Order: sequence, then C-alpha cells, then structure tokens
Amino acid sequence: MTDRVGEVYLNGRFLPLSEAHVSVMDRGFLFGDGVYEVIPAFGGHPFRLQHHLARLRASLAAVRIASPMDEAGWRRLVNDLLDHAGAGDHSIYLQVTRGADGRRDHSYPSDLKPTVLAMSRPLTGPSPELLTKGLKACTLEDIRWARCDIKSTSLLANIMLLQQAKEAGAEDAILVRNGLALEGTASSLFIVRNGALRTPPKGPFILPGITRDLVLELAAAHGMAFEVEDITAAELADADEIWLTSSTREIVPVTFLDSTPVGQGKPGRAWNRMNAWYQDSKIRLRMGLSAC
Ligand SMILES: Cc1ncc(COP(=O)(O)O)c(C=O)c1O
Repeated sequence: MTDRVGEVYLNGRFLPLSEAHVSVMDRGFLFGDGVYEVIPAFGGHPFRLQHHLARLRASLAAVRIASPMDEAGWRRLVNDLLDHAGAGDHSIYLQVTRGADGRRDHSYPSDLKPTVLAMSRPLTGPSPELLTKGLKACTLEDIRWARCDIKSTSLLANIMLLQQAKEAGAEDAILVRNGLALEGTASSLFIVRNGALRTPPKGPFILPGITRDLVLELAAAHGMAFEVEDITAAELADADEIWLTSSTREIVPVTFLDSTPVGQGKPGRAWNRMNAWYQDSKIRLRMGLSAC
C-alpha cells in the first residue's frame, strides 16, 4: 500500500505526519518519560523481532508503564508498518510514553493512557566508504545515568556526548566509566585482543544490544573465540580491532581511536569474517530461510 508511505501510527490510527499530534502535557515531551525500540527489517522481514519485543517489554516493566498491547498486537503493528512502507529495507521505530496528564507532576499518575507512536523509515545501513575506511572514535567519560539498560527516550546525555565527539573531530565516542569502556553513544562495543573477541557483560551501565547478542551467537556458531568480560580503557587503547554494533549501523569497524590507528588503521580480519556472517544472516532472512 504505497499510498500510505509517510504515514505514522499514533494511538491506534495511521495518520499523515502533518496530522499526527500529541499534547504538550505528554510526559514524553515534558520529561522524556518513555521508552522506545528500533527494529531493522530486510525485504519486509523484521530482524530479531522477538528479541526487540522482549527488550521493549523489559524497558516498559522497568519504568512501570503497562504495555499498551500484547505481543500479538505489537507483531501486527510491526507488520502493518512494513506493509505500508513498501519494498526495501526499513527501520521500525516504536515509542511508548507514560501519556498526557493535566498537571506537570513528577510522580507517576495512576490512570494515564500511554501514548504509542510507531513509524518506519528507509534503512540504508552503513555506507561502503564507512566499511572500507572504518570510523574515527574518541573516548569520553560516560555522563549518562545508572540505568542505561533501559531503552529510554531520555537521550540528552547521549546526544551531548555525540556532539562532543564530533566537535573533537571524531565520528562517535566510546564511553568510559570507572576506567571501563562500555559502549558507543548508540551502539555496543567489541574489541579483538590476544586473538579473542571481547564485549562487556550486560548490566546497568549498558544497553543489552540485540546486534551484540547476534554477534556472540555468530561467533559461537563459527568457532570464533570470544569472552564476555570487562574492557579496561587501557585494553581498549591496545586492542587489535574495535567494532561498534547496532541494529541500524550493523557492525562498524573503528579504525582510529583518539587519533591513533587501531591495529593497522583499517578494518581487521576478524571484522571481515564477522561482517560476512552477519550479512549472510540478513540474506537468509530476506529469502525467508531463517526465522526472524
Ligand atoms: C546506547 C546504545 N547501546 C547499544 C545499542 C545497540 O543496540 P541494538 O543492537 O539493539 O540496536 C544502541 C542502539 O540504539 C544504543 O542506543
């Protein structure tokens, strides 16, 4: 239904973007009191949908917003959005805020109807140039809160950190807290060191990345050595390879860290292998050969 491209879903209805309005008293607008999810879809098939919906449920539960629909409802909505989006690859955005209240009061009101926004956008993935040259990153002290495991719409700290990285001549930042390298401003972190792939364990200071989990599954399936262990800032600086992973940017090699080449200053061998396995799982999904 290509005539519906450009529409967004708001509280039960598909509307043109220009007609989709929310109250200025919406707590998402006033406080960033909401959670969201971003789901990639390739050739009309959502990727790792079950995992994304599980994380959405966990985020909603953590902030005590009752899920406005059940699992089947979310699945129907994602599929409707993909039908409306037409051919090609898309990212599906789902957002739930606590809703609009008459008062601007910090405490949770008991009887609010959550606001549900959902939309799809074309997904282009990382550019060939980025995958050839890699990304320049810098390390920055993590100024975010202590519940980074919740996929909250309150992203001001992430936005400030990305801006700071850009103003320092980098393209993204790797965030360091208490001497440990945790993740990018919108991505999970991997390093390759002493022949093994490593990513930090899940916990309150990182988002449990869906792409991260897939990379670990692919490493296990193909016999690539890996460990889920803390990464110190010193180990990061000394890594042979650094990758940042996310649903929309996939697996991006970091080739410069704080203006110093990472390894040979170009995408490494382990990255090449992992990226090929990841691309293969996308192809299988497109062909309907694997479950999402
Ligand atoms: C802070 C943060 N960490 C990690 C990720 C990667 O998560 P995923 O692989 O589920 O996209 C994201 C994605 O937006 C993020 O914002």
